[in-house]
Amino acid sequence: MIRYGADYNPEHWSEEVRREDLKLMAEAGVTMVTAGIYSWAAVEPRPGEWDFGWFDDVMDGLAGAGVQVCLATMTASPPPWLSHAHPEILPVRADGVRLSPGARQQFCPSSPVYRAHAERLVSELASRYAGHPALAMWHVGNEYGCHIRACYCDVSAEDFRRWLRERYGTIGELNSAWTTTFWSQRYSTWDEILPPRVAPTFPNPAQQLDYHRFSSDAALECFLTEQRVLRRVTPGVPITTNFVGLVQKALDWHTWTPHEDFVSLDSYPDPYDPRAHVEAAFAYDLVRSTKDQPWLLLEQAPSAVNWRPRNSPKPPGAMRLGSWQAIAQGADAVLFFQWRQTSGGAEKFHSAMVPHGGRDTRTFRETAGLGQELARVPELAGTRVRADVAILHDWPSWWGLELDSHPAQLEYLETHLAHYAPLFDANITCDVVHPSRDLSRYKLVVVPNLYLLEQETADNLRAYVAGGGHLVVSYFTGIVDGRDRAYLGGHPAPLRDILGLRVDEFWPLEDAVDLRFADGTTGSGTNWSEWIETEGAEVIASFEGGELAGRPAITRHVFGDGVAWYLGTRPDLGPVLGRVCSEAGVSPVLDGPPGVQAVVRHGEESAYLILLNHGTEPVTVDLPHAAPDLLTDPSRPVREVRLAPRGVAVLKG
Ligand code: GAL
Repeated sequence: MIRYGADYNPEHWSEEVRREDLKLMAEAGVTMVTAGIYSWAAVEPRPGEWDFGWFDDVMDGLAGAGVQVCLATMTASPPPWLSHAHPEILPVRADGVRLSPGARQQFCPSSPVYRAHAERLVSELASRYAGHPALAMWHVGNEYGCHIRACYCDVSAEDFRRWLRERYGTIGELNSAWTTTFWSQRYSTWDEILPPRVAPTFPNPAQQLDYHRFSSDAALECFLTEQRVLRRVTPGVPITTNFVGLVQKALDWHTWTPHEDFVSLDSYPDPYDPRAHVEAAFAYDLVRSTKDQPWLLLEQAPSAVNWRPRNSPKPPGAMRLGSWQAIAQGADAVLFFQWRQTSGGAEKFHSAMVPHGGRDTRTFRETAGLGQELARVPELAGTRVRADVAILHDWPSWWGLELDSHPAQLEYLETHLAHYAPLFDANITCDVVHPSRDLSRYKLVVVPNLYLLEQETADNLRAYVAGGGHLVVSYFTGIVDGRDRAYLGGHPAPLRDILGLRVDEFWPLEDAVDLRFADGTTGSGTNWSEWIETEGAEVIASFEGGELAGRPAITRHVFGDGVAWYLGTRPDLGPVLGRVCSEAGVSPVLDGPPGVQAVVRHGEESAYLILLNHGTEPVTVDLPHAAPDLLTDPSRPVREVRLAPRGVAVLKG
């Protein structure tokens, strides 16, 4: 069964409304809600005074209605009494401003006071609902790092020093790791070390990089504090926490997901942006690849959000299409924020499954329609997506690339999306994986702009290409190690032998530059260019104009049994990646009309081809063989499918 439902915030509603909720949930095909995310102040109105009676009723009601609960640990927004008694738990910005309560996520992740209170609440909650028939899963915290990406208070400073002592052991080692000889930054004792607060100019880059790592770990420690209680009190109940989509980069998912049973993601593509589904697709491939198992879409909007400058409702069919997209890309659950739209509070203009207008609304009809539809395809749950292409993605490299004082301000996500989009458009399924992943199962590995690259990653790539793999590396990759120290001896030093070249200088581009390909065709490069000296690589394209005219821009190098391509600029990536894919034997899931996304979910006995029309025109898709569309007539195999704009088909074959 694909789980279906929403965040449920019952503290807003009377018992009468909650009774109606259960009826409407049945009508909408809701099978799971994630309940209680912001209930802390309601279950503990005063310190140590518990009021769980009303929540017991909610849990019992849901169990009676057959709705599973992904129970939130309620720690996402501490009640005012906690910050009133302990103002030191409030987070501090890099400029020294201490944030006030009155919104949410108002805690310093390193605060021992916050963590102790969270632990106390979670113990109470877990013991109370252990064995409850509705309890299906735990939802720890909520979107860690969403608002508070890092805290710069004195408590965090102390915790940072502890973290650094564990990482480096001696102050001498830290001085070396941070290159503190530069600008007279040498530390004589640990006590002198501070977070990278606002400083006269660029703070030490290695210190900034470590602060990103530390901040992700500090939030992780909050998660683990709760997770340990849950493992002890309710062993066997799976645990998740919802990641914010890729709009922000605070948490290194790869250090978090080993501690979760399911990975879950929140996704809010902008209905005004006709390409928003591509960025969503990248996030889905990434979240799926972290654990190589089905994941949970824990939040999306049924229609409009309230937090962009202008918020468009989702046009008819868009919510269904976006939900099916997540399922196509490996989700086994589709939930919304939220079940019922509140009449007050900051999110009163955010859509919900049950809008202000109640049951007789387009949003309710559409969400209920989807719930009923999903109930008809239980066999999809647990099936897997397989990919021949891997894109490498790494948080420390993201943090490192976007540090200040670089040759140019490159954006990690933008670069990844630029490389991902042509593959997406060609219906080539990708995994998005950590650089340490065993790459041998992939026919092609794409490395967009992996600025920070550990020696082990270079070794992994070397073994992959030597063993017959096809690799594409784009510019400004392999420049620094994990301490943000440039590799010496010609860039990208750890990859030079694989790529068969040396980069002498970086020439970031203001304007596009012409390219001439060895086969006589022309093109252009944007963003970046480099002075490349080949050392065995074949030149595929050269710069035509500018200071680098005549010099190599794109190269190809046979290394061992494989091939390594290098892009010293950003060409039109579609044709280049297309050529590499055909050399590598990578083929699309389907050669369909433009705008139609095609993904296969593989079961043990059957495969399910899911077709999604992201375009605004109706299209006809020819199928490789006759198959029934489970969403229209499961008993009648068809050779072609007509998809309306935003149409979906699930073909079983
Ligand atoms: C998420 C958050 C939800 C809700 C939602 C609105 O970031 O987890 O609680 O605020 O945004 O879009």
